[in-house]
Amino acid sequence: MADRRASAFAPGRVNVIGEHTDYNQGLALPFAILQGVTVHAAEHPPGPDGRPGIEALAADLGETDRFALENPSPATGWRAFVRGAVAELGDAGVPLLGARLEISGDVPRGAGLSSSAAFSVSLCLALAELASHGHHPDEELPLERIELARICSRVEHRWAGAQTGLLDQLASLYGALDTALLIDFMTLEIEPVALQLDGWHFAVADSGERHAHAASGYNERREQCARACELLGLSSLREATPDQLAGLPEPERRRATHVASENERVLQAVAALRAAEPALLGELMNASHQSLRDLFEVSTPAVEATVKRLLEAGAAGARLVGGGFGGSVLALLAPDVPTPPGAFEVSPGPGAHLIL
Ligand code: GLA
Repeated sequence: MADRRASAFAPGRVNVIGEHTDYNQGLALPFAILQGVTVHAAEHPPGPDGRPGIEALAADLGETDRFALENPSPATGWRAFVRGAVAELGDAGVPLLGARLEISGDVPRGAGLSSSAAFSVSLCLALAELASHGHHPDEELPLERIELARICSRVEHRWAGAQTGLLDQLASLYGALDTALLIDFMTLEIEPVALQLDGWHFAVADSGERHAHAASGYNERREQCARACELLGLSSLREATPDQLAGLPEPERRRATHVASENERVLQAVAALRAAEPALLGELMNASHQSLRDLFEVSTPAVEATVKRLLEAGAAGARLVGGGFGGSVLALLAPDVPTPPGAFEVSPGPGAHLIL
């Protein structure tokens, strides 16, 4: 009794290009980064009331949470994710055990690098593995990756109040060394694209502005895209033609035009990578940023200052990553351009996995 253990790691991500396209059934090109969240789970005997429960320690914050396995009540901050992971796994019929969880990580929180997806994916993996006896439908994981992504996205929607798409969870779950992922959110097809950079490198700089999707304009942007579809009688913006876009009222026209042009840029970026033309990729990143700033309107003065700083330091391209309203900026740098002060290099690492 009480000696079963399971551990899991899930990475954060950067998105090379394709922002605010995921919930519009569009295209994106993210990669999993080396930084992530680790969860160690150990079976924990029921307390004096006989009910199995969870005892969670957020090691980096020195904070704890305790709750019964059955029907967890809502909470705020990091606790919302732990309770949400337990509740949503339970709802999906995944067997669970009372557990003691120790959580630690090195993805900066609220910085647009998907700390929350890394958190929920590693939690769900460790919790599911603890009860699974190693019988895995997905060969190495206790649950199929796509099902895990959906469970984690319900944690965001129902427990953290952020109506996010599947970009972060899929990037974290399917990431691979030296590889970006071309994701088609209409079919959920994921195509590996080798990051042939020939000495060019990516770096990330924090704008210093923290964001929470639930409180930012993120949900409002998603509603505006849905409204554009409703006005056009389409089920997703992926199907909209240029003429249809031009006829939309504002701000729906600006939002939908960003999405359509961003999908195009993702395809051009993949072509640039395949043709080993990193300078062209840099230009596409700049165009993506301008569209996010002027049409989708998710940039802020702090993000603009960070983009400017990176371009002045010699970046060939710089764009906000993630939902915007603060967070980080991704820069592409030529081989002879050093990583600017205050930025750190990011490279594609392996996707979420169990730690054996
Ligand atoms: C956040 C969300 C993703 C995606 C991006 C914008 O990271 O979690 O689902 O919508 O913003 O591309």
